[in-house]
Amino acid sequence: MPLLQFLLLILQWFYIDICTSQNNTITSTQFIKDPQTLVSTNKIFKLGFFSPVNTTNRYVGILYNFPVGNAVWVANRERPLNDSFGTLSISEDGNLTVLDGQKMVIWSSNVTDPVSNASAELLDTGNLVLRDNSNGRTLWESFQNPSDSILESMRLSSYVDSDERTLLTSWKSPSDPSIGRFSVSLEPLNIPQVFVRNGNRKHWRSGPWNGQTFLGVPNMNSVYLSGFSLGDDRTGTMYLSFTYANDSALTHYTLNSEGVLMEKQWSDSKQDWEATWSSQEDECDHYGKCGKYGSCNFKDSPICSCIKGFEPKNMEEWSRGNWSSGCVRRTRLQCDRKNTSNGTEVIKEDGFLKLTTVKVPDFAMRVNAPEEDCASQCLTNCSCVAYAINSGIGCMYWNDDLIDVVEFAGTRGMDLYVRVAYSELGNLFHFLPKLAFLEFLVDVHSISLHFALF
Ligand SMILES: *[C@@H]1O[C@H](CO)[C@@H](O)[C@H](O)[C@H]1NC(C)=O
Ligand SMILES: *[C@@H]1O[C@H](CO)[C@@H](O)[C@H](O)[C@H]1NC(C)=O
Ligand SMILES: *[C@@H]1O[C@H](CO)[C@@H](O)[C@H](O)[C@H]1NC(C)=O
Ligand SMILES: *[C@@H]1O[C@H](CO)[C@@H](O)[C@H](O)[C@H]1NC(C)=O
Ligand SMILES: *[C@@H]1O[C@H](CO)[C@@H](O)[C@H](O)[C@H]1NC(C)=O
Ligand SMILES: *[C@@H]1O[C@H](CO)[C@@H](O)[C@H](O)[C@H]1NC(C)=O
Ligand SMILES: *[C@@H]1O[C@H](CO)[C@@H](O)[C@H](O)[C@H]1NC(C)=O
Ligand SMILES: *[C@@H]1O[C@H](CO)[C@@H](O)[C@H](O)[C@H]1NC(C)=O
Ligand SMILES: *[C@@H]1O[C@H](CO)[C@@H](O)[C@H](O)[C@H]1NC(C)=O
Repeated sequence: MPLLQFLLLILQWFYIDICTSQNNTITSTQFIKDPQTLVSTNKIFKLGFFSPVNTTNRYVGILYNFPVGNAVWVANRERPLNDSFGTLSISEDGNLTVLDGQKMVIWSSNVTDPVSNASAELLDTGNLVLRDNSNGRTLWESFQNPSDSILESMRLSSYVDSDERTLLTSWKSPSDPSIGRFSVSLEPLNIPQVFVRNGNRKHWRSGPWNGQTFLGVPNMNSVYLSGFSLGDDRTGTMYLSFTYANDSALTHYTLNSEGVLMEKQWSDSKQDWEATWSSQEDECDHYGKCGKYGSCNFKDSPICSCIKGFEPKNMEEWSRGNWSSGCVRRTRLQCDRKNTSNGTEVIKEDGFLKLTTVKVPDFAMRVNAPEEDCASQCLTNCSCVAYAINSGIGCMYWNDDLIDVVEFAGTRGMDLYVRVAYSELGNLFHFLPKLAFLEFLVDVHSISLHFALF
């Protein structure tokens, strides 16, 4: 054996020896020091010190036990170590702590009641759990304090009666794990939905949960996204979690620093993570891209149009490609006119125009009505502007301005029935501005037809 190779082998042994403790547990006497790591029993996860790309700052995190890929959880996100003298240990009062070279506490699990004997274990799921050794009680766990990623069997939970919820929060940049602008949460609305928010503003939404899938994620029935379930632990908490659709592929979801929620799967052949789904596949995935009563189709040019029966609120802005003001109703509804009419005018009842294969708008409300009565019940309530029927949810109404409607390609998506005035129902040309002249002819034609009939 050549000498160099031999030396390398010795070095490698030495390296493995100092870098990997045999154990998956931290106790008050057994701590880890940069650059040591702990490895879970199944060898899939590791816990220890790392530096993100393009920085020498040191962080404690949980990573997949592969040479590539980012941390799925970070302890001292807001306070990096600037040298390699950090340690991760259990303090005398039982907290899990990250200490710098001067033994100053950089990060702590901040458990409320002191305990005399605690230990932290990195489980095979990637969950780091701090326990009271005297009774086995869980004091703290990384799954309840996530960073930017959700792993299998982790719960994204939400209290139904308060704003308290588990948030995934983005990193500021790929080099900086401190809390960035974007967050992901499950919102226990009338019909639960997942949102990506930019600060408080909605950035992306999943569409309503129908018991099996999110209606706004049309490719969710693929092998990748099929393992979600929504649970209710009966204490007023609702949670979302997933299990692998494909046991042989390691999968996790992560919110990147640009606000894109991504599904990543480990590829054995490429020895790298592959993005197998993304919340921002085209411009229409940006929440409310086309404004109120606008509809987005990335295959059209321009991508925004008004829903049938509606026209741009501000034509000049709209034609410049600024869709933020959205669209307004062209013809007042019977509901609004009954009110002002003196009773002599006969106003025909409103009807519905059907949009096919769409991502249904935000603010859906589940209504306790048989599916066959969905249309008639919507019609009798003047605040109902649209309805849709899904076998998992039943009848849904919209009582708000319709926003974030996206037209999906192919047969994905749902039918949405939008309330319009009677006079809009027969008019098939109004949403094609280029055909305005033709529309005029048709209008004249239909008037003369009316005369002919009377
Ligand atoms: C790291 O820095 C290099 C050189 O400045 C740059 O090209 C690269 O994009 C950076 N990587 C990331 C992930 O920011
Ligand atoms: C490193 O961090 C310590 C505090 O944790 C600080 O006192 C020191 O000045 C920093 N050193 C450099 C080179 O930034
Ligand atoms: C722990 O408490 C300290 C001091 O109150 C605080 O600065 C820090 O952010 C807390 N850490 C966590 C993880 O909540
Ligand atoms: C952990 O940290 C918190 C906050 O700094 C402190 O109140 C508590 O006493 C510490 N010890 C334990 C065991 O929680
Ligand atoms: C702490 O608990 C562990 C596990 O139960 C036990 O082996 C250890 O002796 C305890 N240490 C002290 C100081 O009580
Ligand atoms: C499961 O994933 C593996 C590796 O990515 C792949 O080779 C296999 O075809 C997948 N199986 C199914 C049923 O999708
Ligand atoms: C688009 O229109 C809105 C509303 O009038 C305005 O506030 C906004 O600045 C415009 N955006 C651009 C890029 O012009
Ligand atoms: C009449 O119109 C007003 C204002 O648009 C509205 O507040 C009221 O609810 C309407 N009344 C009925 C009976 O629809
Ligand atoms: C109409 O819908 C609104 C909003 O859901 C509801 O508050 C109201 O009670 C309904 N009115 C009738 C007559 O059903």
